[in-house]
Amino acid sequence: MSSDNIILIGFMGSGKSSVGKLLAEKMGYDFRDTDDMIVADEGMEIQEIFNKYGEELFRNLETTLLLSVMDTLERTVLATGGGMPVRERNLNLLRVMGKIVYLRASQESVESRLFGDNTRPLLMGDDYKDRIKKLLSERTPIYERAADLIIDTDGKSIEDIVNEIMRQA
Ligand code: S3P
Repeated sequence: MSSDNIILIGFMGSGKSSVGKLLAEKMGYDFRDTDDMIVADEGMEIQEIFNKYGEELFRNLETTLLLSVMDTLERTVLATGGGMPVRERNLNLLRVMGKIVYLRASQESVESRLFGDNTRPLLMGDDYKDRIKKLLSERTPIYERAADLIIDTDGKSIEDIVNEIMRQA
């Protein structure tokens, strides 16, 4: 197993995938995204998995995925789904896989980045701002505790964020 990986965690819309792709390119690392891997393995979009089987099953799929890739990932930037570290088991697996970088984003920037988005089952409905608020307050302490490095993303470009990670990681 290699711990020579960078694991990006953070709320939905915090930029894990966009930042991860550019970071991997600049570092000469591979890029993987846990949501994309689950979609490919299951042959179903995330919303479909939530609708058909519910959140709990999705969390099980996240754990199964980590267990199946953790011994093989090397020099990889791994973008994770926003709920991944909420489950203690997943967080413990992520910790041994690499350095955990938390992309922190405020309520306002998450709201504006996800405005009109219809791919996040947990934020569907007119009360999506309240849902963001509730989930953000539940998860922020978890993300902060999990992180080896915290990067504030508000008002910064993808390039700025990538450069900041490369300076500090
Ligand atoms: C989720 C975040 C999503 C995806 C699923 C659940 C969450 O990933 O895994 O919709 O619980 O925060 P992104 O963080 O990439 O949007």
